[in-house]
Amino acid sequence: MNTGFSSHLPRALIVNVAEIDRQHDGLFSELAALKAMCIEQNALPVARAEALFDLLVTHCATEEQLARDAGLDFRKHHEKHERMLKGIRKMLNEVEGEALDVFSLIRYIDYWFERHIADEDKDLGYALQLAAQAEDPDCRLAPEPMWGGGAGRAMQPGQLV
Ligand SMILES: [Fe+2]
Repeated sequence: MNTGFSSHLPRALIVNVAEIDRQHDGLFSELAALKAMCIEQNALPVARAEALFDLLVTHCATEEQLARDAGLDFRKHHEKHERMLKGIRKMLNEVEGEALDVFSLIRYIDYWFERHIADEDKDLGYALQLAAQAEDPDCRLAPEPMWGGGAGRAMQPGQLV
């Protein structure tokens, strides 16, 4: 099925908030491009890796802004972002200092992206949809939460995401 995104964003990781999904898609595409360049060069293209890191920082800020605008408590999610960014920054420095191989970094980023979207961003996406619906009753929720939860949970605007 065509989701309108590149083939790099797994369908199961769509959170149904356009801006977040678009950014996730961009992050996965950039990560795939970085991976291909690493294989080709057997080294880290530093400028490209730093650009990906900047994109990730911007993305985290976008999610935080969306949550704040919707009146959601983002503290727990913010801590997860901080931990993820700190971990990736540390590994990036190590690869740049030749203390770590580039493919360990790629595996680490891959793991964090997928796990974070599945564990945190899907709940955020659902909470943002609920908040949008509370603002505008004509705004419709995605028909089925794609992760098999969500609809049955008592999630309210303002809750911890
Ligand atoms: Fe997030």
